[in-house]
Amino acid sequence: MKNDRRIPYGKQTILPEDIDAVVNVLKSDFLTQGPKLKIFEETVASYHGAKYAVAFANGTAALHGAYYAAGVVTGDEIITSPITFVASANAAIYCGGKPVFADIDLNTNCISIEEIEKKLTPSTKVITPVSLAGYPVDLKKIKKIADEAECYIIHDAAHAIGSKNNGTFGMEYADMAILSFHPVKHIATGEGGMVLTNNEELYRKLSLFRTHGITKSPELLEDNQGPWYYEMISLGFNYRMTDIQAALGISQFKRIDNNLRQRNQIAKIYNEELLTLDGMILPPNVGFEILEDASARSIHSYHLYTLRLESFYDRYKVYAYLHEHGIMAQIHYIPVHLQPYYRQHFGYQKGDYPNAEKYYNGEISLPMYHNMEFGDLEYIIDTIKRMTKNY
Ligand SMILES: Cc1ncc(COP(=O)(O)O)c(C=O)c1O
Repeated sequence: MKNDRRIPYGKQTILPEDIDAVVNVLKSDFLTQGPKLKIFEETVASYHGAKYAVAFANGTAALHGAYYAAGVVTGDEIITSPITFVASANAAIYCGGKPVFADIDLNTNCISIEEIEKKLTPSTKVITPVSLAGYPVDLKKIKKIADEAECYIIHDAAHAIGSKNNGTFGMEYADMAILSFHPVKHIATGEGGMVLTNNEELYRKLSLFRTHGITKSPELLEDNQGPWYYEMISLGFNYRMTDIQAALGISQFKRIDNNLRQRNQIAKIYNEELLTLDGMILPPNVGFEILEDASARSIHSYHLYTLRLESFYDRYKVYAYLHEHGIMAQIHYIPVHLQPYYRQHFGYQKGDYPNAEKYYNGEISLPMYHNMEFGDLEYIIDTIKRMTKNY
């Protein structure tokens, strides 16, 4: 049965109070970095147990800042997952680094701890675990490896705002965590990103990097010629977030707990309904599909609902069938090592990361966003059930 529905795989919610917050900034004196930015940074930092936060123009710029602050330069290697958005690896290349992938663990779909150990070399500068889809990667275990290898951890938490593993988002383990506020994520600021850290030195480097390496801080100046005086003490970029975006972020962030709870409720319904179907591998969960309150010890943020199909399904046909029925499922992700750029520049090839490739061959992300209509959810599940009858 075809109809006019078009259910995206993810989308933002904008309420009247969000619009008011933005309009108020438009009427104020500060359009770019102003008072809202600081409030947004402090709000997000304290929610995640971080001392410092530096907002960026987007999550990719935040990653660039994080690799820079970690001191990545030509010849350094960074270890990350092949199943991620290209930005996790690309941003290291911006600094001259070489992305080295470590295969995923099919129980979590995140980087495998054993595989990280195999990829360590004296050139490893950073390990960048990605909490894929919102599943909280085990940072405590990775921290042990990073300490022994004397390298940094940059937690790519672009999908995992508010996630917790065993009681913590993990700022005591990761040197930095990055977030993204792209509209398909939990909090939409249009474009936007942030780096969280507990390290004052990293915070200082991130703040400079965001703004051309320019400072007015008296303790950092070589000279001081007057109140107008500034110095550029390192090379930076214009990676600022505007106050317009920050105001939207503050307003959206007030609903974060509810947002996570709704996503977990949707995941619970998907899980219960799809569990009975043959050949469907459900996303990993951490045992708390329903978030009773934000103090739950383990929280999957469910940015995505990553279903995996056994090989007797033709994933291409399933994707086409869902799209024909207005269900705009997506595939997350094409393994980064198989992208032409990575094959050509780093010599990666098919077969290098068997788990990642297996995961990719069966993955299909079903629609997941916090304000999904119950009727749409029922329709998606019914459509999948009807489809499986033809197999
Ligand atoms: C895992 C991951 N890291 C980083 C990013 C980059 O974030 P942005 O799109 O805000 O630049 C994304 C974006 O989708 C992502 O999925």
